[in-house]
Amino acid sequence: MGYRDIYDGWKADPEAYWLKAAAEIDWAVPPTKALNDTRAPLYEWFTDARVNTCWNAVDRHVEAGRGDQLAIIHDSPVTRTKHAITYRELQTRVASLAGALRAKGVEKGDRVIIYMPMVPEALEAMLACARLGAIHSVVFGGFAANELAVRIDDCTPKAIIAASCGIEPSRVVHYKPLLDAAIDMASHKPEFCVILQREQEVASLIPGRDVAWHTFQFGVEPADCVPVEGNHPAYILYTSGTTGAPKGVVRPTAGHLVALNWTMRAIYNCGHGDVFWAASDVGWVVGHSYICYAPLIAGCTTIVFEGKPVGTPDAGTFWRVIAEHKVRSFFTAPTAIRAVKREDPEGTLVGDYDLSNLQALFLAGERADPDTILWAQRHLKVPVIDHWWQTETGYAIAANPFGIEPLPVKIGSPSVAMPGFDVQVLDEGGHPVAPGTLGAIAIKLPLPPGTLPTLWNAEERFRKSYLAHFPGYYETGDAGYVDADGYLYIMARTDDVINVAGHRLSTGAMEEVLASHKDVAECAVIGVADDLKGQSPLGFLCLNKGTNRPHAEVVKECIKLMRDQIGPVADFKRAVVVDRLPKTRSGKILRGTMVKIADGQDWKMPATIDDPAILDEITEALKSLGLAGGI
Ligand code: COA
Ligand code: AMP
Repeated sequence: MGYRDIYDGWKADPEAYWLKAAAEIDWAVPPTKALNDTRAPLYEWFTDARVNTCWNAVDRHVEAGRGDQLAIIHDSPVTRTKHAITYRELQTRVASLAGALRAKGVEKGDRVIIYMPMVPEALEAMLACARLGAIHSVVFGGFAANELAVRIDDCTPKAIIAASCGIEPSRVVHYKPLLDAAIDMASHKPEFCVILQREQEVASLIPGRDVAWHTFQFGVEPADCVPVEGNHPAYILYTSGTTGAPKGVVRPTAGHLVALNWTMRAIYNCGHGDVFWAASDVGWVVGHSYICYAPLIAGCTTIVFEGKPVGTPDAGTFWRVIAEHKVRSFFTAPTAIRAVKREDPEGTLVGDYDLSNLQALFLAGERADPDTILWAQRHLKVPVIDHWWQTETGYAIAANPFGIEPLPVKIGSPSVAMPGFDVQVLDEGGHPVAPGTLGAIAIKLPLPPGTLPTLWNAEERFRKSYLAHFPGYYETGDAGYVDADGYLYIMARTDDVINVAGHRLSTGAMEEVLASHKDVAECAVIGVADDLKGQSPLGFLCLNKGTNRPHAEVVKECIKLMRDQIGPVADFKRAVVVDRLPKTRSGKILRGTMVKIADGQDWKMPATIDDPAILDEITEALKSLGLAGGI
């Protein structure tokens, strides 16, 4: 069957469609029903089933005789090490860690924060939680202590599993002091912390609270898989919203298994024994879904890559990994390909490697610009497939269903809606618009299995953020259009979220940090176009009356404050002092107009502007930074 038949088949009978997809999962108690709409517009899937994620990702492959197949390859150019773990070894390691957690009182439903770099132990920690039905929340290593503290207070973990350090090409990231500072800051205190001591740095442990990874597991009984209800949260992953408080996206266990398993064949065309590589980080949704869970559920070998697209050691690293490990499907963010292209514009390094096993390159996380797609097509000589998704959905909303039927690629479009997603483009009044017309992108409820049923401890925020604006729909926060062939085009965000190097960041959160500086009276943060990272944050600062220090000093302090409060990942390196901010008469800051001026795009004077002269001042300030057509 082709894509159209499959999509139409899903639409005609979603219940039958998802129950059929569910047959590929090993259930402790199979579902009798797919959709649970008793609390509509809040929906659940496979509520009456009992299942364990770790069983499906690990044990069932060993049971089926594939225990000697590689489950994980850790390729770490930053430590110059490589090693591989079979499914059987993974089962032993995960059961042992789960046993140790259980011995310390971690049970089904308890939360565990994981704060680790790109090492296999990060996946093992995730799977050990899943084995017990404990709910993990992985926090990206590039976040500062304050962001970790916010997450500790929101999900109140019984335990935290961390590493002593992470390795960035330019420095060692000292995780342990960040962890200690976060626990000091947080009101909630975990009962214990498990620390993976790495060779590059041995952290000092706090007696009574911290225990080293190996000591922790010494002499414990391995744990078996604990079946959980279909709607039991598998994990919480925090993502940026409009305000400073991150949203805890909840991932439901059964839907996650069914949907991810489905995507591995239908989109990525991978199955047992194939090598799949997502060059992302376990701290992001791509890492959860496609470094850890989906490839393992599908019985593939997954690659945990601890390095960067460039500089570790060069722009040929990606191609070396693909050749050496015989990668079949490769997934990364466009920004990573742009980084490679900038270092190796002619793609010379590609020619040094045998990429004959590679069948396709998948891109997501931000808009894939045509130059990047064309460069990759030309040099890799495989289909380059853009697909669109969000932390909230956990997998692609729109994609080219490569494993079902490769559709013609239209550059600039992540292709078509996947089964489960009825994507519509709406006007402000919530009415569908004609093909080619720009509007808010919304998805008709219910969302498919595996997508977020709610936000952690914040059902009202869930309803308000996603369901209230367009009743009957999930609001994606993206704007765009659909063409006459049903291809989607994602053009912009409709909220204050920006996308820096494939990382989703909230300008609202950054403004809260700037506003906390003692000399800052008012501020705004916008995302300006960046050739490498897609967008780059830029701050405007209005200082308190009587501040008579050099502006450069305040700017420097604000940049440091952002790094300390949000973390290096915010990549906040530019700010400028201005007298006033442009606002509407009702006091709303005109960030959209500022972005257009900064990017040198055509812009119109907003009819509601309070004082048009301010835009001249803003333009001058932007020119002083080399933006708005300045040099
Ligand atoms: N732990 C600690 N710090 C981290 C980190 C981590 N896991 N990841 C990034 N950082 C730091 C970097 O060291 C850098 O710090 P610096 O300001 O001291 O240099 C800062 O955060 C910004 O990092 P990054 O955005 O990675 O920029 P970069 O200039 O180091 O690298 C790219 C640029 C394009 C190579 C890089 O952004 C990249 O590989 N992007 C792919 C993104 C991706 O996979 N996104 C996931 C969605 S699919
Ligand atoms: P995240 O939740 O971090 O995965 O970020 C999701 C957001 O990134 C989406 O809402 C989009 O704004 C953007 N995004 C992700 N993938 C794409 C894509 N293929 N094309 C355009 N934008 C994308």
